[in-house]
Amino acid sequence: MKSSAGSMAVAALAIGTLLAAGGQALAEANRVTFPENLDRLVHYATVKRGNVTEHIMTTAEAIAAVKAGRPVPAGTQFVLVDHRDGTLFRYFVMEKGDGWGADYDDRRRTADWQFQWFWPDKSINTKENTTRCQSCHRGQEASEYLFTGDRIPRFGGTPIE
Ligand code: HEC
Repeated sequence: MKSSAGSMAVAALAIGTLLAAGGQALAEANRVTFPENLDRLVHYATVKRGNVTEHIMTTAEAIAAVKAGRPVPAGTQFVLVDHRDGTLFRYFVMEKGDGWGADYDDRRRTADWQFQWFWPDKSINTKENTTRCQSCHRGQEASEYLFTGDRIPRFGGTPIE
């Protein structure tokens, strides 16, 4: 993998840990990696809207932290597995890493969380600008930038709809 010149987003993030970004204007590799441990994540919420079904999951450690009122630990991923008409469509991932907020300026930063959109083949959607993810999730600053964080304290083993 190599980072490519010509993408401002990548140039701004050229810190050495980047994935290929394809050179398109909106291409946006960042530090978020594809969640390889999906089968070990805890599915705590389901959101259904029309033909869309979202399974929302994270680690058991993150669930325990939220229930105890502690910050989610660095290294945590939250994954939204998005199905359309019963077929896997895409994965939305939020990942928290020590110091990751430093990659962005104040107007964009979502503390140490970064966001990414992966296709079913694990490739990044290089047409997406993840500033959009951040600007919407910024409204949830009080709950670790999570929209479904308030379901976690009520979660007892069955995903909350
Ligand atoms: C316009 C607002 C908006 C945008 C843009 C947005 N989200 Fe979200 N996101 C939500 C809402 C609302 C939920 C709760 C689930 C639902 O209602 O579908 C959510 C849920 C999530 C979750 C599950 C954890 C949580 O917060 O509850 C992840 C992971 C996530 N989004 C990642 C992303 C990524 C990655 C992007 C960009 C590619 C993105 N989001 C863009 C509004 C947004």
